[in-house]
Amino acid sequence: MNGTDGDVVPPAGSVAAVVELYDRFAHLNYDEAVSQMDHALQTAALARAAGASDEVVLAALLHDVGHLLELRDGGTPDGVVAEDLAHEERGARWLSDLYPGEVTSPIRLHVAAKRYRCAVDPAYEAGLSEGSRRSLARQGGPMGPAEVERFRTDPAHRDAVDLRGWDDAGKVTGHLDVPPWSAYLDLLCRLARGGASA
Ligand SMILES: [Fe+2]
Ligand SMILES: [Fe+2]
Repeated sequence: MNGTDGDVVPPAGSVAAVVELYDRFAHLNYDEAVSQMDHALQTAALARAAGASDEVVLAALLHDVGHLLELRDGGTPDGVVAEDLAHEERGARWLSDLYPGEVTSPIRLHVAAKRYRCAVDPAYEAGLSEGSRRSLARQGGPMGPAEVERFRTDPAHRDAVDLRGWDDAGKVTGHLDVPPWSAYLDLLCRLARGGASA
C-alpha cells in the first residue's frame, strides 16, 4: 500500500467521498481498542465541549482520516506496520482541496503535537495509549530542542496540541453518549469549499 510522503494522493474531491470513506471503513479499529468511528466521534465531542471553533471540531472529527485511507488501500485494522506511513500528512493532503487550513493544519500536526508534548512534559508519554506509544518510536520519538522551537512557530501548533489532548482522551471503549456521525453532516458541508450537500 502507499502512504509515504512522496506518494501522490488523489484529493477527496467531495464531501460525499469523505462520507463514503467513513461509511465503509470507520467501523474498523486501527491499533486501538476503539473503532475509528467511536474515536472520531469522541474526539470531536471533546473538542465541542471545550468550546473549540467549528474548524477545529471538524479537524478533531477527521484527524485520523489518513488511517482510513490506509485501510481502504489494504492496511490491516491491527495497525501493525514496519514503517510510519505518515497518516497525518496523507490525511491532511487528501482533504486539502476540500477544507481550509484551519481544518487541515491541526490534522497535519497532530502527530508532531504528540512528539512535542512528550518532549516538554515527561508525564505525558506515560499516559499515552499502548497504540500511541507503539507508534511514537516509528514517528521519531520525542522532539529535540530545535524541533520544539520550530513547532512553536507554526500558527496552528496550539490547535494541534489541543486536538492531541482530545485525541488521547477519545479512546474510551464501550458505549459513550456522544453525538453521532450524522450530527456533523451540516458542518462537513458548511465548511467545504464552495459549500456542498451530503
Ligand atoms: Fe492519528
Ligand atoms: Fe487519533
